Amino acid sequence: MLTPTHHLPARSRAQLIATGVHVTRGGTTVLTDVDLTVSPTTRLAIVGENGRGKSTLLHVLTGARAPDAGEVRQVGTIGVAEQEMVTHDERTVGQAVADAIAAPLAALEALETATNALATEKPGAAEDYAAALELAETLDAWDAERRVHIALEALGAETDFGRPLADLSVGQRYRVRLACLLGAEDDFLLLDEPTNHLDRSGLDFLTDRLRSRPGGVVVVSHDRALLTDVADTILDLDPTPDGRPRIYGDGYSGYREGRRAEQDQWQQDYDRQQTEAARLNDDLSAAQNRLQSGWRPPKGTGKHARATRAGGLVQSVRRRQEALDAHAVTVPEPPQSLRFPELPTQSGAAMLTVEEVTVDGRLDVPTSFELGRSERLVVTGPNGAGKSTLLAIAAEDLSPDTGQVRRTAGTRLGLLRQESELPPHRRATDVYAEHVGALVAAGTLRESQAVGLSQLGLLRARESGKRVGELSMGQQRRLQLALVLAGRPHVLLMDEPTNHLSIALVDELTEALQATQAAVVVSSHDRQLLRDTSGWPRLRLGAGTPARP
Ligand SMILES: Nc1ncnc2c1ncn2[C@@H]1O[C@H](COP(=O)(O)OP(=O)(O)OP(=O)(O)O)[C@@H](O)[C@H]1O
Ligand SMILES: [Mg+2]
Repeated sequence: MLTPTHHLPARSRAQLIATGVHVTRGGTTVLTDVDLTVSPTTRLAIVGENGRGKSTLLHVLTGARAPDAGEVRQVGTIGVAEQEMVTHDERTVGQAVADAIAAPLAALEALETATNALATEKPGAAEDYAAALELAETLDAWDAERRVHIALEALGAETDFGRPLADLSVGQRYRVRLACLLGAEDDFLLLDEPTNHLDRSGLDFLTDRLRSRPGGVVVVSHDRALLTDVADTILDLDPTPDGRPRIYGDGYSGYREGRRAEQDQWQQDYDRQQTEAARLNDDLSAAQNRLQSGWRPPKGTGKHARATRAGGLVQSVRRRQEALDAHAVTVPEPPQSLRFPELPTQSGAAMLTVEEVTVDGRLDVPTSFELGRSERLVVTGPNGAGKSTLLAIAAEDLSPDTGQVRRTAGTRLGLLRQESELPPHRRATDVYAEHVGALVAAGTLRESQAVGLSQLGLLRARESGKRVGELSMGQQRRLQLALVLAGRPHVLLMDEPTNHLSIALVDELTEALQATQAAVVVSSHDRQLLRDTSGWPRLRLGAGTPARP
């Protein structure tokens, strides 16, 4: 059985070309006139605020979503890692691996059949054998399984092929899928926020693979370290004067500089036009005044000429104003900016004490820490070391098998979970209001301490009015952050807080976490965040245990 031709890799001939792509979602224009060419040497990153259409663009590129206008031409094969993991997957790890390398496995089978036919000296057998051999060579079929194994090991993914995917955590399933993709060697690899579930060594492996793989790479990411290390070109979906996205060369730094220059230019053009409009307005009133005085001429001759001249002036100013309006520069949309609420602090030495806690199979080494007012802590460790477990225990969300957690009376804890589900059919504003209402009703929060969702600068009004399921992943994560902040916690427990958030928000959040009065515990693999919090005390998990159980 030969592989269908559209599943055949095109290698150096591979191309992915988008022309004039427009997409509208939920009545809003998401993508305007996107042109993009991806070749086997391309290392492209797509960036932009949460909800700009990055995932939508990836879906258009893979053919999963038809654009409202424009087209996408694809030559070659594509491997894609969606931002969201499907929740129901009945397969085992082994089946997922077999599916990922189905083409090379089929090619090997075909080669075996062709080899056997060769021995029988059937007519045409030699040609069939040559074709089967060529395909197996193109796919490097003999090496496919080994490639996936290497990737599974390097990403710290589950290597027990018998385990059902449904039994694994989101992070574990994500790593299995990524390893399959990295081993499969498609012509193009399209990855949406691939760093969310990787630890340090997984990130290093991914970075290395994305740089060195023979095919093209398109990656959506907020991970500044990954963008710096991998991207040659950056497609920026943030607003521009003409509504079309910009492409910047020279990697991530080229983008930062280019973007700043573009924004400055936009602001200058706008300011210049505002000045010009104001001047025209003055001219217009002046001309109108003269016109009026022209109708009440003083004695003597020339009154008609004066009146006509003033009328002409009004006409000419009006024409200039019309021309200006026709080329009006829109106001550069002010970026949304986080307004981190003032968080309270408690007097007393330790607000939260975690003592020798363990959870069987998840956090085996007894672990302790103590947090006083405004103290900071970074929890690090490889995948599976128990970081999320520790944070959940500290937040009294999970009971430890041994050890204990103590917190002084009145101390409020806020846990931003690594993963959590929000009701997809409810509106963001309702979810938020209900949460605040429950806190007030329980006496945890006084009415006067409540913060409105719009005050936080996390979601715009047009977004908070939407149902959760209509929000992008980053927008949903913003809502989760809002829910945590709404509780005005004395202790913030942040599990991978940068996941899915935009670059700008990650910067703002980092700053806010440095400055807040509340005590903060952060668990993260984000290399930039770890650099930015390098002065904070560290608690490293998994050091004395097998790194990946
Ligand atoms: N199911 C849906 N129905 C209607 N609108 C949607 C739906 N899903 C997403 N949208 C809207 O489409 C826009 C683009 O979403 P998309 O997921 O492509 O953004 P994104 O750039 O990937 O964001 P993020 O950084 O948060 O992942 C968003 O404004 C979002 O509100
Ligand atoms: Mg997205």
